[in-house]
Amino acid sequence: MARDDALRWDSRYRESSLLSLRKPRSFLLEVEEWLPQRGWVLDLAMGLGQNAAFLAERGLRVVGVDISLTALRRAKILYPQVMTICADLEHFSLPEKTFNVVLNFYYLQRSLWEGVRRWLKPGGLLIVETMTQEMKRVKPEIDERYLLRPGELEKSFEDFEILLYWEGWRDLGGEHPRAVASLLARKPEV
Ligand SMILES: C[S@@+](CC[C@H](N)C(=O)[O-])C[C@H]1O[C@@H](n2cnc3c(N)ncnc32)[C@H](O)[C@@H]1O
Repeated sequence: MARDDALRWDSRYRESSLLSLRKPRSFLLEVEEWLPQRGWVLDLAMGLGQNAAFLAERGLRVVGVDISLTALRRAKILYPQVMTICADLEHFSLPEKTFNVVLNFYYLQRSLWEGVRRWLKPGGLLIVETMTQEMKRVKPEIDERYLLRPGELEKSFEDFEILLYWEGWRDLGGEHPRAVASLLARKPEV
């Protein structure tokens, strides 16, 4: 299954269309003022590294994880300062209290959220944006497992300090807007 995912994403990343994805996600730009000036960032399912590079350029040390070696190779050419790990996030772990910021853009794996809690340092920031069930209106064929239920993301981190939470339609520059939930939350200090 993981091998199929890797092959599927590798082939998508070989298509030239995805290579236009060079700009950081707009939600990341919106939360820029909250970001620390120093520290470690983990970018889960990093893809081509445009979000990671934006943070590395700000002086943060960024580690990106993805299952697609093609994506990581391209990211490394474009952004050599970003550290990369090729791994299946379904079978993945890291030392606890390591990261000041964790990014999770457009990859929904609910079982990862326990890890996210552990890997963040106390007071660390979690930045998540991914699609919601509203997407079914424009893309009925999309697999329900990869879509957030209404309010699910906010509820899942209710023990964190919620700094920003939003659900709605976002124009990501594709053929149609995406229904998304966006979260900026801080892990409690204790
Ligand atoms: C929609 S892309 C999002 C990329 C990036 N986060 C962004 O915002 O542009 C989803 C990413 O998840 C990665 N991915 C899919 N399954 C994975 C898995 N099991 N472990 C790690 N990465 C995975 C894909 O290779 C792809 O880069």
